[in-house]
Amino acid sequence: MASFPGRHSRHLLGLQGMTPDQIEPLLDLAESYALLNRSRKVPRDVLRGRTLINLFFEDSTRTRTSFELAGKRLGADVINMSVAQSSVNKGETLLDTAATLNAMQADLLVVRHSQSGAPALLAQKVEACVVNAGDGTHEHPTQALLDALTIRRHCGGFGGLTVAICGDVAHSRVARSDIHLLTTMGCKVRVVGPPTLVPGGFKSLGVEVFHTMEEGLRGADVVMMLRLQRERMSSGQIPSAREYFRFYGLDQRRLALANKDALVMHPGPMNRGVEIDSLVADSDQSVIQEQVEMGVAVRMAVLDRLTRSRHSA
Ligand code: NCD
Repeated sequence: MASFPGRHSRHLLGLQGMTPDQIEPLLDLAESYALLNRSRKVPRDVLRGRTLINLFFEDSTRTRTSFELAGKRLGADVINMSVAQSSVNKGETLLDTAATLNAMQADLLVVRHSQSGAPALLAQKVEACVVNAGDGTHEHPTQALLDALTIRRHCGGFGGLTVAICGDVAHSRVARSDIHLLTTMGCKVRVVGPPTLVPGGFKSLGVEVFHTMEEGLRGADVVMMLRLQRERMSSGQIPSAREYFRFYGLDQRRLALANKDALVMHPGPMNRGVEIDSLVADSDQSVIQEQVEMGVAVRMAVLDRLTRSRHSA
């Protein structure tokens, strides 16, 4: 689903199929927004007069807030539609909701949904630019872009880096988007976890599959931990949180197997003591808070690029 920033596209639905020369300029723009954010000198006219609607059918803290901040910093009017209080609860279909939003002439629609493909379906029905903020287990493109920007800032680039993505890979849209992006940029990507959560089929995405942390972490430059997505699990996929941590949790002893100064990442929300130990999450090697900061910058870059491509089309 390569649809951004293709010449004719006004949506960001996924990263699969994107090329390095589409990704690098976007990361460069995000980096410039990161610097402007720090110096508090963001031009507020980039999205002036534009309306952004956040449409979240699933819970979110970081993603929804950072899209809101990104839109407001660039001067857009931002509306957060709380689905819990909307007509969706009265049985309105996704497409009827789309038609309503269309009639309101929103410019940007940021959508999170439990069904893979829901943002793509909306994109066919609305005039607005649609940004996928996470759909089912499919993709979460802005999360992978912010992960990539954080990695690039610390490692200077991507070529030759070994990135270990660990934990509940099967249910993770973050993992899928990161795999597409990081393999495209020249990283060696490993997925690490129990066979129930890291099926061998992932090999077809160009990654190496490991079922022990000890093997998977050795020689890694980046260790990316994932939350156990219990809301998407059928029963029996993991024994208990305590046992999971014993075999697959990231603690200092296991982190020492990775390369010296390996980056520790997590998209949040973290479950401390389940997939990651607090001593590691809060250590000097952790860039978890920087990921959040880069999230605002990446979303500013995406909103900026999409509205420009829409109006130059
Ligand atoms: C992730 C998501 O929603 O996919 N969170 C996020 O956007 N930062 C990962 C998760 O929920 O575990």
